[in-house]
Amino acid sequence: MHQAVSQLTLEEKAALLSGAGFWNTVSVPRAGIQGAVLTDGPHGVRYQPAESDHLGVNQSVSATAFPTAAATGSSWDPALLERMGAALGAESRSLGVDVLLGPGVNIKRSPLGGRNFEYFSEDPLLSGVLGAAWVSGIQGMGVGASVKHFAANNQETERMRVSSDVDERTLREIFFPAFERIVTQARPATIMCSYNRINGVFASENSWLLTDVLRDDWGFDGYVVSDWGAVNDAVAAVAAGTDLAMPATAGHADAVVAAVRSGRLDEAIVDASVSRILEVHDRLRVDRDDIDPVDPAALHELACEIAVESSVLLTNDGLLPLDPGVGGRIAVVGEFARTPRFQGAGSSHISPTQLDSAIEALSAATRRDLVFAAGFRLDGQIDAALADEAVAAAAEADVVLFFAGLPDDEESEGFDRTHLRLPTVQVELLRRVAVANPRVAVVLSNGAVVDVRPLMADAAAILEAWLGGQAGGTAVARIVFGECEPGGRLAETIPLEIEHTPAFANWPGTRKSVLYGERIYVGYRWYDATRREVAFPFGFGLGYTSFTLTDVRVSVPDARIAQAVVEVTVSNTGERAGSEVVQVYVGGLDASVDRPERELKAFEKVRLQPGERRRLRLVLDERAFAYWGDSGWTVEPGRFRVEVGTSSRHIHAQEVFTLDVPRVDVVLDGASTVADWLSHSTGSVIVEQYFAASDDAATSFMMNDPGTRRIIGSMPLRTLLEFGGRGDASEVIEELLSRA
Ligand code: BGC
Repeated sequence: MHQAVSQLTLEEKAALLSGAGFWNTVSVPRAGIQGAVLTDGPHGVRYQPAESDHLGVNQSVSATAFPTAAATGSSWDPALLERMGAALGAESRSLGVDVLLGPGVNIKRSPLGGRNFEYFSEDPLLSGVLGAAWVSGIQGMGVGASVKHFAANNQETERMRVSSDVDERTLREIFFPAFERIVTQARPATIMCSYNRINGVFASENSWLLTDVLRDDWGFDGYVVSDWGAVNDAVAAVAAGTDLAMPATAGHADAVVAAVRSGRLDEAIVDASVSRILEVHDRLRVDRDDIDPVDPAALHELACEIAVESSVLLTNDGLLPLDPGVGGRIAVVGEFARTPRFQGAGSSHISPTQLDSAIEALSAATRRDLVFAAGFRLDGQIDAALADEAVAAAAEADVVLFFAGLPDDEESEGFDRTHLRLPTVQVELLRRVAVANPRVAVVLSNGAVVDVRPLMADAAAILEAWLGGQAGGTAVARIVFGECEPGGRLAETIPLEIEHTPAFANWPGTRKSVLYGERIYVGYRWYDATRREVAFPFGFGLGYTSFTLTDVRVSVPDARIAQAVVEVTVSNTGERAGSEVVQVYVGGLDASVDRPERELKAFEKVRLQPGERRRLRLVLDERAFAYWGDSGWTVEPGRFRVEVGTSSRHIHAQEVFTLDVPRVDVVLDGASTVADWLSHSTGSVIVEQYFAASDDAATSFMMNDPGTRRIIGSMPLRTLLEFGGRGDASEVIEELLSRA
């Protein structure tokens, strides 16, 4: 318990459990308690000393706008995310911010999610590894992270009241692991609980979520802060484990005091919450000495490096990279080249320290003649003159760089998208431009995947640059002219049709609830299970060089222990330096429950010079083979397939091996079936003995005949006994259960 707690009155303690303002917590000078400053996150510091809001409406002081998580998720580079976290930490400290509200690690359940740009991936491992690195980076600078939004907050529609109706296995395997990994590996200062309900109970009032899972299972020792306005019932929230209700919430403290006085709320719960808040704030402040002032130019350069590493080259018939020194005119088409779309709308909105447009960056990087034509308006209105000008510019150029993307008003916090299409004016213009000049490279700016099929026939290359932050324009110029390699790989599948997507039939639900009917089959897990063609698979991305993956070796040190080591040699067989992301997928072949065909369980990004090779060693731990069963994480004995590849659909080698781990018994009860009993290590012996000694010939026959045994497998053992005429079946079952 924090030493200050015993000195505080109940009123003071209750006051500490909600904000003092929009971004501040309460101070109690008498007891030496100084409030902390929390602010958004996650791609930059949105510090608002004056007018505050949680939707990015009012100005914040200028800070580096790093690439959004849609981009950084595609970097597959935890070391880079750690550097980004450290940079955000330095910038937070320079502005006096104690806790930065990020990272966002919700899983992209549907490509339509309005906040997908703020989240890393459709895959829990990738989200968790990147999130943990980001948290380590920022907290290493003495600034707290607030991992958000816990949990099952995967859509914007009705986000403040909808119930995400989702089974526990799906939560544990898909929607929780990123949070779990960050809690267990990076010890975040705070977790932000989400607005929505989970199976009917608000996240902020969900003690199973905030206490049983987060604290008891995972050992979280920071404090839980509510999303801004996510507390509906102060007392229920405190009782469930929401320590801090943000922002300042009228009546919150009074309700807590009244509940304690009336005996409805145990004061010890209040004390524990206060203690957690104070301990975290002490921990942050203690570490906050000796910090160099930030260098905005260095942070801008880091933002550029991250944008390069996050850009995904989807197609390239050899057009890219362009030679900056040799060749004819370059036509730069598209308003986005002049007016970059570099971040998303809502609470993560940053006032950048500088903003590089692609057109400026391209002209600075080349001696070639360069003309710009806006081509289309961002409001989607048709403008024939702009379009004609662009087509004419394309016709006279040697090559065209076409900047397409989603305008600001098509994706944002607060609402979801309704389709995957790019604006028609852009697609139609691209068609005309490509007729005039087939040497077109398309550069995309968008925070969530779009339908790329209409581009594929017309573009000689497509570079997905995402919402690449304030230096995104320079990053694109470096990639286009080959100064840098596009280092990104897709962190989310690009589907062919919205109707193919996992959540389609259940999206976005009703005003009250949304059913997670696809269960664990999110992202590539779904496209693989349903054998869907996709436009571009999870994990995919091209570079400017080529790689081979050879000599794959999977070794299992001891088959009785669920652990394997994967080794593979990666060679750069091309002419340029570049990077490759080696991905290891696992599938359980003999599982007693349905399991995805393949799940990402390890990955590593390697950078190699031309001709260079490296032997990688990736370790698969117990969790890589486990599913969430009735008794928790379960590894079953049997065959597992390990695949090594460069996307979920580009598998270079696979190996199958058998694990001989002990089988975890099902939990037997009065309703257990014949099959349950026979699969149970001691239960099967007891049942076999029972029937061997029994005078019930018919039932004994059924049990001993393999065909019949299969037919009666799903029958409760009790029913079988009753059918056999045992009036005391329930007592027999009790007796067998006590022995098992
Ligand atoms: C968002 C959070 C954000 C908070 C404070 C909420 O609307 O959901 O992500 O951190 O506002 O701005």
